[in-house]
Amino acid sequence: MHKPIIAGNWKMNKTPEEAKALVSELIPLVKDAKCDVVVCPPFVDLCPVHKLVEGTNIHLGCQNIHWAESGAYTGEISPKMLLAFGVEYAIIGHSERRAYFGETDEGVNKRAKAALANGITPIICVGETLEQREAGVTETFVSGQTVAAFAGIPAVDAVKVVIAYEPIWAIGTGRTATDEQAQEVCFAIRELLRREYGALISRKVCILYGGSMNAKNCAGLLAQPDIDGGLIGGASLKPADFAVIVREGSRE
Ligand code: PGA
Repeated sequence: MHKPIIAGNWKMNKTPEEAKALVSELIPLVKDAKCDVVVCPPFVDLCPVHKLVEGTNIHLGCQNIHWAESGAYTGEISPKMLLAFGVEYAIIGHSERRAYFGETDEGVNKRAKAALANGITPIICVGETLEQREAGVTETFVSGQTVAAFAGIPAVDAVKVVIAYEPIWAIGTGRTATDEQAQEVCFAIRELLRREYGALISRKVCILYGGSMNAKNCAGLLAQPDIDGGLIGGASLKPADFAVIVREGSRE
């Protein structure tokens, strides 16, 4: 089994100065964590945050990654550029990227492969809309996104991928999936991976829940057998709250 991962997605928040203040406050609060702690600041904050987290137990992630090494891709950032700032994780296919910036399943797959090829751990986001949940197609839809994300990824790399199940209706809304709803979909994702890659690999892949996870509701979610951590937006901007989630993720 993978060590649990508690990852903070700062989204488009914090200037470099503000980012430095946030991570400086966080470092002492999570220093004894037994889970992997990851922060994913905006690109422009990677350099100052990297300098502060170097030598601590906090790992650095980013919020997107391009598949090409360099070239005419205005506005994109390559894996090598990210490696230069100590980036170890990349969020890929977040629902906000899919909904507002035209991110496709194919693009997600290409970005994931590029991350893997450069030794960066992809955190691939999947999740259904409220309409899809109400229509009873959650598992079919999330399975489709997962299969597309893993297309052409061999078992030796699949085992390194992190999946974040984030129901869109729960993101930034304060409306969390119940423990049972979250567990049900995370179990379905693991079952799918078991069919594709076998039991051993499916057990090793880290599956996170995301969507209004906070200091109050994290214990129940993180106690679910198929939830191996969390991808946290709003609450990751509050060091004390994020530290509570890290502590919960550190339970044996
Ligand atoms: P939230 O965001 O915790 O603010 O709902 C989670 C995410 O979008 O990753």
